Amino acid sequence: METKQQRYERLLPQVAALCDGEDDLIAKMANISALLHQEFDFWWTGFYRVKNNELVLGPFQGPLACVHIGYGKGVCGTAWKEARTVVVSDVERFPGHIACSSESRSEIVVPVKRDGEIIAVLDIDSKYLDTFDIADARYLEQIVALMCKQ
Ligand code: SME
Repeated sequence: METKQQRYERLLPQVAALCDGEDDLIAKMANISALLHQEFDFWWTGFYRVKNNELVLGPFQGPLACVHIGYGKGVCGTAWKEARTVVVSDVERFPGHIACSSESRSEIVVPVKRDGEIIAVLDIDSKYLDTFDIADARYLEQIVALMCKQ
């Protein structure tokens, strides 16, 4: 049985390969959300992009989601404002959590930085409590860094 760490290690070269030589960020977001969603038992996997000083829904896999998220709002807006990965083990205990789906129980949001500026966030939701930990944070940060490498 493959561990979570082994799975991420296996995915890193795939992410690097699908980003190599590709400068269209939306295409890369689309493939990375598909890859992660296919490989893990996530409920929702996708990106919100910074646009006109708010987050706007980008490529994703999973059920329909809210389209606009304000700066500092919800888990996504908090990760953007605080410029750090936010791990939420129980969404009901995160004040201001935006419930796009009532099935979501835990969540991780990773800022996507390019040239020192946050241009998007990677948001992943799980149907189970306490799905994400520091290992997910570090691997997903590597994945979004590969996506932005030019
Ligand atoms: N729960 C997020 C909103 C986005 S959906 O999970 C896809 C939040 O609180 O920012």
